[in-house]
Amino acid sequence: MSESNNHKRILVTSALPYANGPSHIGRLTGAYIPADIYVRYQRLMKRDIVYICGSDEHGVPITIQAEKEGVKPQQLVDRYHAMILDEFTRMGISFDHYSRTSAPIHYETAQDFFLEVYEKGILKKKTQQQWYDEKAAMFLSDRYVEGTCPICQNPEARGDQCEKCGTYLDQMQLINPKSKVTGTAPVARETTHWYLPLGDFQPALEKWIGEKTHWKDNVLNYCKGWFQQKLEDRAYTRDLEWGVPVPKTDRKGNPIEGAERKVIYVWFEAVLGYISATKEWAKKIGQAERWRDYWQKEDTKLVHFIGKDNIVFHAIIFPAITIAYNQNHRKDDTYVLVSEIPACEFLNLEGAKLSTSRNYAVWVKDYLEKFPPDPLRYTLTSILPESKDSDFSWKDFQAKNNSELADILGNFINRSLTFTVKNFDNKVPAPGTFAQADLDMLSEIKQAQKETGEFIEHFRFRDACKRFMDLARAANKYFNDSEPWKKIKTDREQCATTLYVSVQIVRALAVVMLPFIPFTAERVWRMLNLPGRAEDQDWSKIAESTVESGHSLGNIEIVFTKIDDDVIQKEVDLLNATIEKKAAETAAATKAEPVKPAIPVDDFMKIDLRSATVLHAEKIKGSSKLLRLELDLGYEKRQVVSGLAKFYKPDELIGKQIILVANLKPAVIYGVESNGMVLTAGNDETLKLLMPERNIPNGLRVS
Ligand code: MF3
Ligand code: ZN
Repeated sequence: MSESNNHKRILVTSALPYANGPSHIGRLTGAYIPADIYVRYQRLMKRDIVYICGSDEHGVPITIQAEKEGVKPQQLVDRYHAMILDEFTRMGISFDHYSRTSAPIHYETAQDFFLEVYEKGILKKKTQQQWYDEKAAMFLSDRYVEGTCPICQNPEARGDQCEKCGTYLDQMQLINPKSKVTGTAPVARETTHWYLPLGDFQPALEKWIGEKTHWKDNVLNYCKGWFQQKLEDRAYTRDLEWGVPVPKTDRKGNPIEGAERKVIYVWFEAVLGYISATKEWAKKIGQAERWRDYWQKEDTKLVHFIGKDNIVFHAIIFPAITIAYNQNHRKDDTYVLVSEIPACEFLNLEGAKLSTSRNYAVWVKDYLEKFPPDPLRYTLTSILPESKDSDFSWKDFQAKNNSELADILGNFINRSLTFTVKNFDNKVPAPGTFAQADLDMLSEIKQAQKETGEFIEHFRFRDACKRFMDLARAANKYFNDSEPWKKIKTDREQCATTLYVSVQIVRALAVVMLPFIPFTAERVWRMLNLPGRAEDQDWSKIAESTVESGHSLGNIEIVFTKIDDDVIQKEVDLLNATIEKKAAETAAATKAEPVKPAIPVDDFMKIDLRSATVLHAEKIKGSSKLLRLELDLGYEKRQVVSGLAKFYKPDELIGKQIILVANLKPAVIYGVESNGMVLTAGNDETLKLLMPERNIPNGLRVS
């Protein structure tokens, strides 16, 4: 990965979280923990860096939650904005500024961008059909409408995107659409919106991304996929009450026809929240124009930390809006494009997908009631889904805390400082002559500083974390091999050298660990009784032995407490209880599901049900849901595609007898022909196959 070093300053952003609920570890992982490590490191490198974020307070995710909670959107975002900021602060996420998109300065910025592209004639006004809920008398923007995905048949695809297969949809593509507001089937009705013709910007975007050869594969592949499908017009506005209003007049005072009751599409303004937040930061520090340095000078490095579901908005949409804004514009008022997008994949929990709606998550505020922030920061960093999805498990968390933080890092710090306090009257001893082992250890500090820093610069946070822990590993080995507890009796001078070096290592560790576990770093700094704070130190001077002989140490405390099995078991039980409770709720809900209208028995007799044995089962490539089954019906063999992959392993199905709807018209699912449907019961979480109670001949008619 190449890194251009001509940048004079760095602007780091983390995706603006929707202010529609508390944060869980999944949210924390993708965009905040790695960004915070990066920022803290750059500050130690004395670089000019600003770290910006804020709450995303518009859009359907907000209004749906507000309706659910029976409050006004503004009340909802006020509450969650405060809650999310508090959680971030307690986790040590060190924003220079955390703003919100309902701030007036954000309305100004978002409207300014709209007007710029509107007045240049870039936006196209088009009248198109949209789903309209007659009962609620409203157009169903984005997540207000759900239906079956035309690509993967997921019955719960949202109007803006199918979460199962990741496709961004035009809501009119949904099959069997259903309103989220009233549950009724919407009708198609015409409405007029402004569209950004993304296709016009495709050549410029492709050229620009073509130069980003060092970007991560996940980001580049995503973009390539988009370019291949050709970028299409994207609506810039929505028919909603809640959002940044489309301005009623242009900058010359001419009315903008059709602007009433239209708001700017949330994604087209949320990304501009980074700019508004930087403006607010500049005001806060008393240099109102300072934001321009970061957004309008070409030697800024702009870094967006995001999760993979946000890639298109940061790699395509935001750059497109920016290019559109910059076109034929005053040179002193154009904006930089993003330099780096270190996007993360998803984090799972105990082998299953995190789910806010099912309450299957580890909530940050619950975690903080029981544990300190640093072990979570450390664990999440060490399993960061940098190149593929990864899994958080409580057992793993316990192991990281007990066997790495406590047994390696904490142990070295405590044993070396305690030994010094006890045997050298609380003072750093004067070293004797350095032996080879001492010199090697000192150069290992230098090496650790260099390599950890390089990993961070290249967004390889897992490697960086491991490299810093390796320094503590090496330190323990050095301490063991030097045997100061023996040497104190036989060779006091050599013992003094070991401890002198050890104190230097502890100091180095305090700075190296700071980006990862900042709370512990400051505690260790206080134990060392050094002036200032660990965060004010200079990364490039980590390896200099600056703790002088004769310096008095502070109070030595245990830095990491071990976590017992029963504490961890409680957390695991809690998650399991959540799953069971939800399953019971769905079961109860299923019971209550109304019976469909009566049909004559002849209608039922039209369905030909047959028994069959599974001969072969395999996953369908590219689908996480579907299995291809080969069935033996006695008189013939059949192939069917069925959504069983989440519930059965292919192997466990082979030899099983099932019931098949044998006279369904063939369909092609995921490119595979399916001749029939296998009977199942249950829902998305509880699905079970129906099987004969004992073996019967294949091909038998079932009635
Ligand atoms: N709120 C969005 C989410 O949680 C992220 C918005 S990022 C921004 O997925 F750039 F648009 F602000
Ligand atoms: Zn889909």
